[in-house]
Amino acid sequence: MEVCRDMPLIKLENEKLCKHTIFGIGGKAKYFWVVRSEKDFLEGLEFSRKEKIPFFVLGGGSNILVSDEGFKGLVVKNENDWTKKLDKDFWEVGSGTNLKHLIDFATDQNLSGLEGLSGIPGTVGGAIVGNAGTEGNFISDVLESIRVLTGNGEIFKIDQKDADFSYRSSRFQKSGEIILSARIKLEKLEKEEIERKIESTISIRKNQPKGRSAGCIFKNPEKGFAGWYLDHAGLKGAQIGGAKISKKHANFIINVGGAKSSDVLQLIHLCKEKVREKFGVGLEEEIVLLGKF
Ligand code: EPU
Repeated sequence: MEVCRDMPLIKLENEKLCKHTIFGIGGKAKYFWVVRSEKDFLEGLEFSRKEKIPFFVLGGGSNILVSDEGFKGLVVKNENDWTKKLDKDFWEVGSGTNLKHLIDFATDQNLSGLEGLSGIPGTVGGAIVGNAGTEGNFISDVLESIRVLTGNGEIFKIDQKDADFSYRSSRFQKSGEIILSARIKLEKLEKEEIERKIESTISIRKNQPKGRSAGCIFKNPEKGFAGWYLDHAGLKGAQIGGAKISKKHANFIINVGGAKSSDVLQLIHLCKEKVREKFGVGLEEEIVLLGKF
């Protein structure tokens, strides 16, 4: 797959963000552009600077809670989706590439390295920002470098070792750098072995609920698991408005119908309070919050 799309930049106004998040929650974005190339990103950045409005990159919408009040700036929906073979085992991948499509593509080509990311519903860029993955296979493990755009319009490459990756964390959560693409290293492996690894990752996720959520709400603390603490604080099934803590896995909040971001936020506060009260453990959100809360 080597795709270089040359499609027009889609520019919308007052777009409902609930349509673009898996949670199905969130007010409108003042401006909403669907970007498919570096040129589009640059145009968006220029526009936001000219209008003096904030700029936000939305990936798959799988790890985000958008405020009911929406976002009074420019949201760029990242569909910069392409894969290009470089020399040897190296590939360059657009940051808007869907993770599942990339894993399917790699499997087809007998390329291994991404199996631990199976089942994550997002884009390469989003996965890099939050260093998605599981113990033993985080996306940072296959990255060589990341190409970014700064708020000043500069484009440069950051080596993996300079991206400050750790559990669910990277420099991109604070730096404001926009990820354009990434260079990854994949290795040849028998297809059956790749498929076995994918199966094994997916089976580990069998205890996760389906439905409208943002994945795990909290990071695991230094000791123990957020899901365990929440469960043992008796929070499974707790509901505020249309937001409910899953009975299957306590680190998931589900939009069971008509949930408002304020419902989710109240549940988040309740979770933190109860876990601190019972175990003396502080939980920190894993999800990204967008807009005013
Ligand atoms: N647990 C409970 N009750 C619950 C949920 C979990 O007691 O309601 C216990 C489990 O029995 C287990 C421990 O807590 O002993 C950990 O649970 P699990 O195996 O489900 O793993 P996790 O730490 O909750 C992490 C990632 C997931 C990833 C899975 C699978 C975090 C915050 N979560 O879940 O990532 O899919 O491992 O590898 O790191 C995400 O980041 O959005 C996400 C879903």
